[in-house]
Amino acid sequence: MTEARETTHFGEQTVALEDKQGLVNAVFHGVADRYDLMNDLMSGGVHRLWKDAMVARLAPPKTGSRPYRVLDMAGGTGDIAERIINASAGYAEVTVSDINSDMLRVGAERAKKWRFGGQANFVEANAEELPFEDESFDAYTIAFGIRNVPRIEKALGEAFRVLKRGGRFLCLEFSQVDLPGLDRVYDTFSDRVIPPMGKLVTGDSQPYQYLVESIRKFPTPAAFSAMIAAAGFRRVTHTAFSGNIAALHGAWKL
Ligand SMILES: C[S@@+](CC[C@H](N)C(=O)[O-])C[C@H]1O[C@@H](n2cnc3c(N)ncnc32)[C@H](O)[C@@H]1O
Repeated sequence: MTEARETTHFGEQTVALEDKQGLVNAVFHGVADRYDLMNDLMSGGVHRLWKDAMVARLAPPKTGSRPYRVLDMAGGTGDIAERIINASAGYAEVTVSDINSDMLRVGAERAKKWRFGGQANFVEANAEELPFEDESFDAYTIAFGIRNVPRIEKALGEAFRVLKRGGRFLCLEFSQVDLPGLDRVYDTFSDRVIPPMGKLVTGDSQPYQYLVESIRKFPTPAAFSAMIAAAGFRRVTHTAFSGNIAALHGAWKL
């Protein structure tokens, strides 16, 4: 008798849960060198404002009696880490962790040019199984990453485990547009502009087709908030950005 295999979504496709990560990894290995450029083109630079707002919400301290340690999970090319370190005037220590060595390679190369690049370190790891000790970080950030993780509940559980009591969880992710009118414009842009633009810039439209479809499959803010609470977090909030194109979820380990 064959056991029923657990399935999940990879964009529009239904795939075996254990196959999703390999497919996601292929997407980001393929686009790593053009990833930053594509982010700017696709969002008209607005992703920078959302990321700024996320780090403003974190408000990392600029001084203290002990290090302020942040884990930026699925940190890719280091956009969030650079902002956190700058906002703390070089005080915060940020571990940029990602499952994809190519994204980390681009990030580590970029960090050489940052003002406080020595405050970042880069660690290859799966968000579902972190190689970090319990209660070792003051904050856990994840931007546009959680959507790609096959077992989101596991990643949230690991976020909770590695945070200290009083630690902050912040997750920036695409969401479902809820402004009448904007939703249709956004759908058309997603279907007709993003994949062809991806092909033009990276030579392949498939990763960007995946991006569009993965956004559509991601849980609503209410459902995702419930998942964060189920992982043990308290005071879960969410803030919509740009008509809910993106949403910032925040919570505390109390
Ligand atoms: C859209 S990029 C976001 C990068 C960066 N945080 C940013 O906002 O620009 C998504 C990242 O998630 C990473 N990722 C996907 N699955 C992961 C997993 N299971 N564990 C850790 N990182 C993962 C990918 O390798 C990729 O670098």
